[in-house]
Amino acid sequence: VEKQPKEALASTTLAREPVLGFSQLGSESAWRLANTNSITEAAKIADIRLSFNNAEQSQEKQIEAVREFVKQKVDVIAIAPVVETGWEPILREVKQAGIPVVIIDRNVDVADQSLYVSHIGSDFYEEGKKAGKYLVDKFPKQIAPIGIVELRGTEGSTPSIARGKGLRDAIATRKDFRFLASENADFTVVKGKEVMKKFLAEKGKDIRVLYSHNDDMTLGALEAIEEYGLVPGKDIVVVTVDGTHKALEKLSEGKINLVVECNPLLGPNLIQAVKEIFKGNTLPKRIVTSENVFTQVTAASEMASRTY
Ligand code: AHR
Repeated sequence: VEKQPKEALASTTLAREPVLGFSQLGSESAWRLANTNSITEAAKIADIRLSFNNAEQSQEKQIEAVREFVKQKVDVIAIAPVVETGWEPILREVKQAGIPVVIIDRNVDVADQSLYVSHIGSDFYEEGKKAGKYLVDKFPKQIAPIGIVELRGTEGSTPSIARGKGLRDAIATRKDFRFLASENADFTVVKGKEVMKKFLAEKGKDIRVLYSHNDDMTLGALEAIEEYGLVPGKDIVVVTVDGTHKALEKLSEGKINLVVECNPLLGPNLIQAVKEIFKGNTLPKRIVTSENVFTQVTAASEMASRTY
């Protein structure tokens, strides 16, 4: 999707100030903080009243927050769902109350597509494929196995499922790639370091590739690799997803080999969607964010404009 300029967001006059209830899944990563800031700022610019709830990784808390938004009779509800399953009952309640729902960032797995208006966010499967294609190009076919370890994000979340599948599909024809280990590290720096330490203790120098589902886990893993006495970016090829300033720094220092972008700045798109819904307009069922990949060559120029 095209980025919405600030003026465009502020310009449309509405009959009254719409109220948006937004259930954010947590604050686990730099990406998430940028996502929350983007939505808060875009709402402010557009004079949309935001009722915000941070569910701290709990689907139960998200469901409670959504129920509270229904009680408050907000005009639109936006949900960034922590996991994909388990949403049908609450979404049915919201539909019965006549409140439109926008799914933002991660997706929900529901049979009845009429339970939400639109899903705005990244193509996580494509992100995984980009990571896999990079590895296929980087490593010429060989007899000896190329050992991969994977740091997965939150179990049952769309990015974790789709990034894992995308990468596997992209390398499927290459039997020399071998998964040595794959574990959930919750998208956090602390867990990323802890799990990478464990991988290194168990697999040591057999590890040739680290595929990490987000930058925060990667930053933790880089510390673990250096403490173990290996050189990230050289001894271990590091591929990560997001594109935060800190990860781009490590990319330009040569400690990361590839950053697949996942854009957290969804505020302008969400707020535009809320305005359209409020005016009674229809929206595409799926709005996909446009994204890039960054290499050690492009890292520095990208860093200059990165605000998160
Ligand atoms: O859902 C998007 C993912 O969630 C981002 O890649 C990650 O950093 C965040 O925690």
